[in-house]
This record gives sequence, structure tokens and C-alpha cells, in this order.
Amino acid sequence: MMSRRNDQGDAGIRITVVGSGYVGLVAATCFAELGHSVICVDNNQHRIASLQQGNVPIYEDILPELLRKHVGQRLSFSSDLATAVKASAAIFIAVGTPTAEHGEADLSAVQSVIEEIADSMDGYKIIVEKSTVPVQTSDWIASILLRRGISRTCFDVVSNPEFLREGTAITDFMHPDRIIVGTNSNRAWEIMSAIYAPLAEGYYYAAGSSVPGRCSVDQTPSLIRTSPASSELIKHAANAFLAMKISFINSVANLCEAVGADIQEVALGIGTDRRIGKGFLNAGIGYGGSCFPKDVTAFCSVASQFGVDLDLLVQVRQINSQQRERFITKIRSTLGSLRGKRLGVLGLAFKGGTDDVRESPALSIIASLLQDGCTIVAHDPVAITNTQRVLQHQALAYTDDPYSVANQADAILVLTDWQEFTQLDFVEIKRRLKTPIVFDGRNLLNIDTMSTMGFTYLGVGRPLITCPTPHRLQMHSIAAIAS
Ligand SMILES: NC(=O)c1ccc[n+]([C@@H]2O[C@H](COP(=O)([O-])OP(=O)(O)OC[C@H]3O[C@@H](n4cnc5c(N)ncnc54)[C@H](O)[C@@H]3O)[C@@H](O)[C@H]2O)c1
Repeated sequence: MMSRRNDQGDAGIRITVVGSGYVGLVAATCFAELGHSVICVDNNQHRIASLQQGNVPIYEDILPELLRKHVGQRLSFSSDLATAVKASAAIFIAVGTPTAEHGEADLSAVQSVIEEIADSMDGYKIIVEKSTVPVQTSDWIASILLRRGISRTCFDVVSNPEFLREGTAITDFMHPDRIIVGTNSNRAWEIMSAIYAPLAEGYYYAAGSSVPGRCSVDQTPSLIRTSPASSELIKHAANAFLAMKISFINSVANLCEAVGADIQEVALGIGTDRRIGKGFLNAGIGYGGSCFPKDVTAFCSVASQFGVDLDLLVQVRQINSQQRERFITKIRSTLGSLRGKRLGVLGLAFKGGTDDVRESPALSIIASLLQDGCTIVAHDPVAITNTQRVLQHQALAYTDDPYSVANQADAILVLTDWQEFTQLDFVEIKRRLKTPIVFDGRNLLNIDTMSTMGFTYLGVGRPLITCPTPHRLQMHSIAAIAS
């Protein structure tokens, strides 16, 4: 069943990945790239049909090339979970685990997949949690299988959390910092070790066609074995820690505004301390996306279930939502009444490099501003279609042309950190604007360039730059925000 050198013509491990979303599709494709035989299953038949026709449902760098390489060879798509289970030694679950009513993770999709798997088991298999789930979910999964009559000797449940970031998902998967495998079973550990051997032993990186990245034959990712409970906690704790870093730097940014310091300089100064690290120290309008908000909430919920108070994370969430409010207040205080005003928005995705708009701060800020009676023209390089599905308003228009958002606008708002926006011709943008004001919610633009060009520039935690003739600006209000 197991092989070490899958590039030598054999089929590797037979894997089913359930879920063809951001994680499932990337994991399935990358497992095929590692030499395994993969069936990716989804109960969304439309999505599966589209994938079978060669369409790529998400925007993700390198994914289209890898799909072209492997579909019809080592990778196939199906909505028949029963057949896929029978054909596989390892079944990875990568379905959604959204927030339920009281903040806990909604595991109903996981449960229905496990029940279907139970009905199709025909021998020993490992069931692998790839979805982010609360601690002790592996025990709960085992209990469902046992209740449905599956013998304890016929399965092991493994926790193998995923740490990929949307926008760099393929590179993250193929060049991970570490691979966590939570299992108490040596048999399951052997299968998981074989699945990840091309990365952990480094021979994947020796191939000329390997996805480029930070790992190499000499610098391989570590494969870390833990208990299932530790592994489940690692994923929640990692996301909570990163969210905490963001809320921390945002709090310091607010202090910077009050005292006239620059958060970019402060972040550089503290981030170069190796104990702290530079990552996740970008002040702005806060975190969003499908993971941090729900995972921090679920982590708090599971902790309180076990009688442990994670008050720190309650603060992290509060700071995060206040950060959006603060940004909106800054716009209102600067422009005065927004009724009849026109705003141009650059960025809809929850971060640059993805078309994912789930929990995007940009969308909630736009929705809030629309209530004030302004009109908004918004641009995003790839996330317009996804936004249109969830945000429609008669005063909101979308455009594929980033420059059009500036036409006769009272200000520009930068809401997503797309690097493309730094390359825009701001002379042209200024020419189109009614008043040259930029609210940079991501601290993306160069403050000196903006100043030299004569913009009024309001970042987050950065000095306020005012253009020589501050058209109708209410400077006293800006001072009020800072204090
Ligand atoms: N998106 C990320 O960046 C990321 C990173 C790490 C971990 N995660 C975790 O991975 C999990 C999946 O996240 P995602 O962003 O890929 O979600 P997603 O919503 O993009 O995809 C989930 C997929 O599962 C399918 N599905 C749901 N129920 C099913 C069922 N019963 N049978 C078969 N298919 C079913 C859906 O149709 C959908 O295509 C979540 O737990 C998430 O927290 C996400």
C-alpha cells in the first residue's frame, strides 16, 4: 500500500479528500503532486461538474497549473463519497466548520460526512481531520463510527490541521513550516508519514518540476507527532496567537495616533526582535476571512466549555471589531456628513491574493458607510463576483478599472492589501478625484509619496498628512479621533 518514491511510476497512497473548497481542493491537488492517487469529493454537484470540466473555482496562485498537470492522471473529482471511501486508505475531511449559534464550531458537515463514511467502510482506514475542529473532536468522530457499528480495529482518527494561507496556499502546503500529525496509533502514524514523506524526507524538492519555495532537500519541514488533543489545540492556539498579534499592533497603532508616532516604525523596531518576529504586525482595519474570526470565537467557546477563561481572546475580538468602527469614524469625522458624497473603494477581498470575501472587513465597512447615504464605486482585482453574491445596494457599483473608482470621488479608501494598488498611477487618481483624500486602511501606500503628491493621507497609526488646501476638511475632528 505504501511507497516511498512515488515519482517512479507507482500510485502512492490512495487518498480521498472530502470538500473541494479552499483547503480541500488545494490539499487534494498537492497530494497528487506528491505522487498519491487522489479522489476529491464534494456534495456540491455543480462544483464537481465544473471541476471535471477543467474550471478552477477559486483564485489561487499555481493551482490552475497543478490541476492541469494532475486531473485525469492522479487526481479526479466525484460526488460519490461511498465509492471513494472504498477505494481509499486515508480519508481527509476538509469541509467547512462555521460558527454556530453560540460561538462554538458547527460540526454538522463533519458529522454528516462521518456518517456517510461509516456506511461505506470496508476495511482499515484512517480518517483525518483537515478541517479546523475543537479539541476532542477526534474522540467524538470515533464515537460516531463505533455507534454505527464500525469495529475499533477498522479505523484510526488522526488530526492533521492545515496552516495554509489563502493567496499562497499551494506554496504553503508544499513548503510548510511544520506538519502536525496528532495520533496515538502507530499504524496511522506510518500511513501519515508515507503521505508526507516526499516533503519530510525532502525528495520532492529534488525534482526539477517541484513547486518553488523555502524548503529544499537539505531543509525539510519537520513532521511533528502529537496526541490528537494537542494537535487540535495547536491549530486553534496558532490562529488565536496570530489574531492576538494583529489586535496588539492595532492597539499600539491607536496610541501612535494619539501621540504622533508612526506604527510602521514601531512595528519594525519590535518585529526585528527575533523573539517577536515581523509577521502579523501590520496595523490596519483588522483581521477577517473564514478562519481567524470563527476560530478565535470557537477557541473561546471550547475553553469555557472546559471551565477555562480565555478573556484575553475576548479582548482580541473586541479590539478587532472596534478597529473597523474607528476607521469609519475617521472617515465621517474627516468628510463630515456622508450624505450625497461619493467614495471610491480599492479592495474587497479579506486580504490581497485571494477572491475570498468571507468576513472581509472591507464589506462590513462598505455596508456601514452606505447607511450614511453616500454612493460607493468599488474595485478588486478578483473578488468582485464573490462580493456581488453577498453585497448588493443601489448606491454601490463595481468596476474592473481601478482608476474609475476615483472619478469625481470625495475620497479613496484602501481596504485590501493588494500589492497591485501600490503600482497605480496616483497622479492620474488625483486628477480624477474631486478632493485628493486617501484613507489607507491597510497602510499600503508610501506616506512620503502621498505627501509629495499633495494628498491628504490618513493611514492607521501613522502621522496625518494634509494636502496644502485641505478641502472642507474638519481638522479638529481628526484631532479628536487621535486623542
Ligand atoms: N480557508 C482557509 O484558509 C483555511 C485554512 C486552514 C484551515 N481551514 C479550515 O478548513 C476547513 C474548510 O475550509 P474551506 O475554506 O476550504 O471551506 P469551503 O467552504 O471553501 O469548502 C468546504 C467545502 O466542503 C463541501 N462540503 C460541505 N459539506 C459536505 C459534505 N457533507 N460532503 C461533501 N462535501 C461537503 C462544500 O460544498 C465546500 O465545497 C474549515 O474547517 C476551515 O476552518 C481553512
